[in-house]
Amino acid sequence: MTDSLPYEVTRYQTLQNGIPHLTLSTAPLASPSPNEVLVKILSVSLNYRDTEVIHGLYNYYDAPGTEKNPLVPCSDACGVVVAVGPSSNNSKEEEERWQIGDRVLSTFLQDHVAGQVLPSHLATGLGKPLDGVLQTYRIFPNTGLVRCPDYLTDEEASCLPIAAVTAWMAINGMEKDGYVRGKGETIVCQGTGGVSVSGLQIAKSAGAKVIITSSSDEKLEKARKLGADYGINYKTNPDWEKEVMKITDGKGADVIIETGGAGTLYKSLDCIAFGGLISCIGYVAGREDKADEARPNLNLLALRRTVTLKGIINGPKDRFEEMCRFYEQHEIRPVVDRVFAFEDAKEAIEYVVSGSHFGEVVIKVN
Ligand SMILES: NC(=O)c1ccc[n+]([C@@H]2O[C@H](COP(=O)([O-])OP(=O)(O)OC[C@H]3O[C@@H](n4cnc5c(N)ncnc54)[C@H](OP(=O)(O)O)[C@@H]3O)[C@@H](O)[C@H]2O)c1
Repeated sequence: MTDSLPYEVTRYQTLQNGIPHLTLSTAPLASPSPNEVLVKILSVSLNYRDTEVIHGLYNYYDAPGTEKNPLVPCSDACGVVVAVGPSSNNSKEEEERWQIGDRVLSTFLQDHVAGQVLPSHLATGLGKPLDGVLQTYRIFPNTGLVRCPDYLTDEEASCLPIAAVTAWMAINGMEKDGYVRGKGETIVCQGTGGVSVSGLQIAKSAGAKVIITSSSDEKLEKARKLGADYGINYKTNPDWEKEVMKITDGKGADVIIETGGAGTLYKSLDCIAFGGLISCIGYVAGREDKADEARPNLNLLALRRTVTLKGIINGPKDRFEEMCRFYEQHEIRPVVDRVFAFEDAKEAIEYVVSGSHFGEVVIKVN
């Protein structure tokens, strides 16, 4: 440990009992064990998931593992290593050691290092079931962090772990050997939240044509300034899937980043290209199909255009590192809509709930 560290960590905690709680308290600052580091949290970006956890609504995934209650919410942090655990005398582990002063990013599922996500990885999710990052310091295993790209500010970098990695996997998760898709393809990004705007930036850097949807013309204008080729307002133009077919001369989109869920999936199936990929990410437009709505079975809709429907839960650490290399190469800067002070965390959460943001909302912690 360095001598200048405080004795206490200040953290937000939530009860997840259906009543949105976020209370501030302190606890003694612990020391890292072998293969662990103590990280001073600099910035935390907020995800839709964090709002659900705080409102007690994030209950539909299998989340094995021992749930903390009260729980420190949030998963996405940029921080700096301020203390390293004692040597473990294991040469492999020693190679993975971080140095004091290294700027790092948290990984969402701390044990998901490579390959297919498994229930055991879900048990290591930051901000549920494990204590998350909305605190001034946190101990991480050496393996639960990636190096932060130098060119990004703390606030920008904190946006990468969930939003950007999920968008990266939605586009490239099925590809092997570092192949990045996009050139000559059309990619649809739904909405202008964290995942979708990251998808827009990744897809444009890869040379794709991007169609983005939003409830707001003002946000569509912002998306166009970021490089979106077409914007469709899904409120004033609820048949946006027909617009996608028109824009693509009847071919359909090659990849759709499906963040809407029940309210958008069937539209996506109507504007996907033959052989296209629909990456199932979220459910901001509904979690349940309407019972009284008769439509062809999903099996038929998938085979009709030989579509791949791929569920995504973030991505492993090695794909996060691959994505960071792509970000560095293209100098992609995540879009930070607003930065809140640590004391204003509740306002920051409510701002995300309001849906007013374009891109990401960040809390400056230290
Ligand atoms: N599977 C995963 O690994 C993973 C990872 C991250 C997020 N997610 C999920 O993905 C979804 C988006 O997450 P996020 O963090 O990017 O959310 P966010 O930043 O809160 O953005 C949500 C945005 O969704 C858009 N939206 C709302 N209703 C819509 C509709 N009917 N059609 C199209 N867009 C609509 C809105 O965009 P406009 O304001 O422009 O209309 C809104 O700003 C959430 O359901 C989240 O739980 C999943």
